[in-house]
Amino acid sequence: MTNSELVQRLEETIENIPDFPKPGIQFKDITPIFLDPKLYEEVIADLANFSRGKVDAVCGIESRGYLFGIAIAVALEVPFILIRKKGKLPPPFVSEKYDLEYGSAEIEMRIGQLKPGQRVLVHDDLLATGGTTEAAAKLVEKQGAKVAQFSFLIGLKDLLGEQKLAQFKVPVHSILEY
Ligand code: PRP
Ligand code: MG
Repeated sequence: MTNSELVQRLEETIENIPDFPKPGIQFKDITPIFLDPKLYEEVIADLANFSRGKVDAVCGIESRGYLFGIAIAVALEVPFILIRKKGKLPPPFVSEKYDLEYGSAEIEMRIGQLKPGQRVLVHDDLLATGGTTEAAAKLVEKQGAKVAQFSFLIGLKDLLGEQKLAQFKVPVHSILEY
């Protein structure tokens, strides 16, 4: 499947749900991808190709960042490290707070799973404002590892997430952009 075929298949498959979870929001439902194993394999192949030979570990962000993140790491034969929402991981862990539209949230990663100096892919399903991914990248840096790349299934251009990630000066790949 060529890249443009993959983009077209995904556009046909991902469902746009207007006004969810709030009025004015166009929710992108990625769950139909998991009804089509062949399409899922093509997504993983694309994301793995972007990172092959360039990273020593993959960090995925709870929860939708796990859906593709683990498969990318397995395809690349590198470790996968879970970044979890606050209160789920046993100590020792590092934490990072970030802003949401209303209020704030916090994510955490176990200390010792990522090794100092490792080149890391930070992966999530969706780049919106970039707040979640920026916090994840800070967790990577707090452990002396290097953010080498970011990848997403979807990037929402209007929300300027890529601009927020520009501070890390590394490649950013989204298969689809809206
Ligand atoms: C969504 C999405 C990204 C994040 C993007 O996750 O999966 O992780 O928001 O938003 P941002 O770029 O503005 O930070 P959500 O927190 O809804 O949780 P989930 O993955 O557990 O569904
Ligand atoms: Mg998420």
